[in-house]
Amino acid sequence: MGKTTTACSLASALSLKSKRILLIDLDPQCNLSQSLGVGACENNIYQCLKEESEFSPMQIMVNLDIVPSTIDLNAFELEMSGEPGREYLLRELLYQVKNDYDYIIIDCSPSLGLVALNALTASDSYLVPLLPHHLSIQGLSKLLEVTQKIKARINPKLELEGVLLTQFSHRKVMHKDISEVIRGHFNGKLYETCIRENIALAEAPSAGIDIFRYAPKSNGAEDYFNLCEEFLSKQH
Ligand SMILES: Nc1ncnc2c1ncn2[C@@H]1O[C@H](COP(=O)(O)OP(=O)(O)OP(=O)(O)O)[C@@H](O)[C@H]1O
Ligand SMILES: [Mg+2]
Repeated sequence: MGKTTTACSLASALSLKSKRILLIDLDPQCNLSQSLGVGACENNIYQCLKEESEFSPMQIMVNLDIVPSTIDLNAFELEMSGEPGREYLLRELLYQVKNDYDYIIIDCSPSLGLVALNALTASDSYLVPLLPHHLSIQGLSKLLEVTQKIKARINPKLELEGVLLTQFSHRKVMHKDISEVIRGHFNGKLYETCIRENIALAEAPSAGIDIFRYAPKSNGAEDYFNLCEEFLSKQH
C-alpha cells in the first residue's frame, strides 16, 4: 500500500527540484494517471508495449511527463504468452527516452505477473512502500525472493532502492516495533523518513493534482519532501 501515492508524490517532489521525471503508469487500475488528472488516451502504455502507437510521453507539469495506463493492460499477460523476450518489452521502449530524463518512475499493480516482470527488468532499482503491519513483512519477503531471481537471471543491475514506511503513526507502539524489525533486516535500506497518515494525501487524487499543489503545508507534503531529500542524498 502506498505505491501510487509514493510514485506520484516523489515524482512531483523531484520535478520541483528541477529533476526531469518520467512517470509510467503500469497498473490497469490507472490510479496514477487519474491522480494526476490524466484520462484515457491513445498514447497509453499498453498500446506502446504492443507497438500500436508511438511512445510519446505527455507533459503534465514542468519537468514531469507521464505515459498513462488503460484497463486493456489486463489483457497483456495473456496476449503476450507466446511472444519471445516478452519481459524485455518495457526496457526496449524506455531505451529510446532514458537520456531525456533524470529518473523514470514506474507505478506497479500489486500483482507479480508479466507486467511487473517488465518493470523489474527495465529498472535499476525498486522502492518498496510498506504499511507498518506484520503481514507487510511477509509480502516483502515474497517480493525479495522474486527480485533476487530476476537479478540473477534477467537484470543483474536490479537493486533495492529503499523501504518506506507509510501511513505511519509515531504514537503507535506496534508501528515503532515494526520499524525496528525492518531496520534490523535491511541495514541502511529503511528510509529515516516515514510517511504519516494524512488526510490530504488521501484527498489529493480526487482533485487530480499532487500533494504539493493540493496541500503544500500538509504533513503529507512535508513527509514526501523529506523523502525526496533523503532519496537524493542516497544517489551516487
Ligand atoms: N500516508 C497516507 N495517509 C492517508 N492515506 C493514504 C496515505 N498513503 C496512501 N493513502 C491512501 O490509501 C489508499 C491506498 O494508497 P495507494 O493507492 O497509494 O496504494 P497502492 O499501493 O498504490 O494500492 P494498489 O495496490 O491498489 O495499487 C489511497 O486511497 C491513498 O489515497
Ligand atoms: Mg496503486
